[in-house]
Amino acid sequence: MKNTISQALKISEVSESKIGQVDFENLNFGKIFTDHMFVCDYVNGEWQTPEIVPYGPLTMEPSARVFHYGQAVFEGMKAYKDDNGDTFLFRPDENFKRINISAERLAIPEFPEDYFFEGLNALLKLDNEWIKPGYGNSLYIRPFVIATQASVSASEADEYKFMIICSPAQSYYSGDVSVLVAEKFSRSANGGFGYAKAAGNYAGQFYPTKLAQEQGYQQVIWTDANTHEYMEEAGTMNVFFRVNDTLLTAPVSDRILDGVTRKSLITIAEKEGIKVDVRPVKVSEIVEAAKNGSLKEVFGAGTAAVVSPVKAFGYKGEHYEIEKQENSYASYFKKALMDIQYNKAEDTFSWRYKV
Ligand code: COI
Repeated sequence: MKNTISQALKISEVSESKIGQVDFENLNFGKIFTDHMFVCDYVNGEWQTPEIVPYGPLTMEPSARVFHYGQAVFEGMKAYKDDNGDTFLFRPDENFKRINISAERLAIPEFPEDYFFEGLNALLKLDNEWIKPGYGNSLYIRPFVIATQASVSASEADEYKFMIICSPAQSYYSGDVSVLVAEKFSRSANGGFGYAKAAGNYAGQFYPTKLAQEQGYQQVIWTDANTHEYMEEAGTMNVFFRVNDTLLTAPVSDRILDGVTRKSLITIAEKEGIKVDVRPVKVSEIVEAAKNGSLKEVFGAGTAAVVSPVKAFGYKGEHYEIEKQENSYASYFKKALMDIQYNKAEDTFSWRYKV
């Protein structure tokens, strides 16, 4: 193991990379991790010297608070390689801002911007071979923070670990999905933390999603907790509806994540002259649009899948099919976004970040 210290970052490299054992043509999303990981501990009221170390298991007390109270937040980002071998991130400043917004809501101390960017750049340089060129190939980056303090007392911890782990990914496409509109369950409520990328938001989705899967649907469209009359998110993504040629999506709120893909799609749509109505979207208007044929498309938008088309939805025992469009907005947006991410299109909005 080679040890170096660059300014405030300590780097311990693996003696031998495991990259030769990886089948990059057959990757399962999020299963394989690169050689190194970034770790920074918070103790005595301060973030300590960050380190990059070989990827591997952690040792923690069973009483660490994250195991008991779920004090944990995370982010999802990707690195892309263009045909010249240059590496890019997409709007990483948005992910950095959001992990601290999520952290604040979970009473986790703010993480410093210079540690984040220095650590991320160093990690991506060290594990650069793991970022494969080719449209659709990427490195999924998972920054996260967990409460490590050993104590089951139910209050915020005073010790944390901030980490970044990276997983090579191929196009995350599982076919067009069928979704069930939630009538009873919700993912978040006013005053809650639906807007945060908090681990608990995801844990709470698994059971209702499992029930939906038993009925033949892959995902749930989450509706508002008060009335279940408004469409909010789809699975782990923001959701868009195309009614005739207008796009509808719910405004961000206490309950809805301010998705980077969501806001990028809105910006691209507006530039292209596509009308976007950001407003509460009633379940009844979407059901009506499905019945009268004006519902042209439904799709999820998120970092992992980029854009995920919905082919059908279920609601109150009825099943509604959405006819496939020739020139869909979903495929247009996916290409427009990926062309920017892979340095194939002009970066009109200054979203690309060169590593
Ligand atoms: C995303 O696509 O933005 C996600 O958060 C997906 C992740 C939970 C796997």
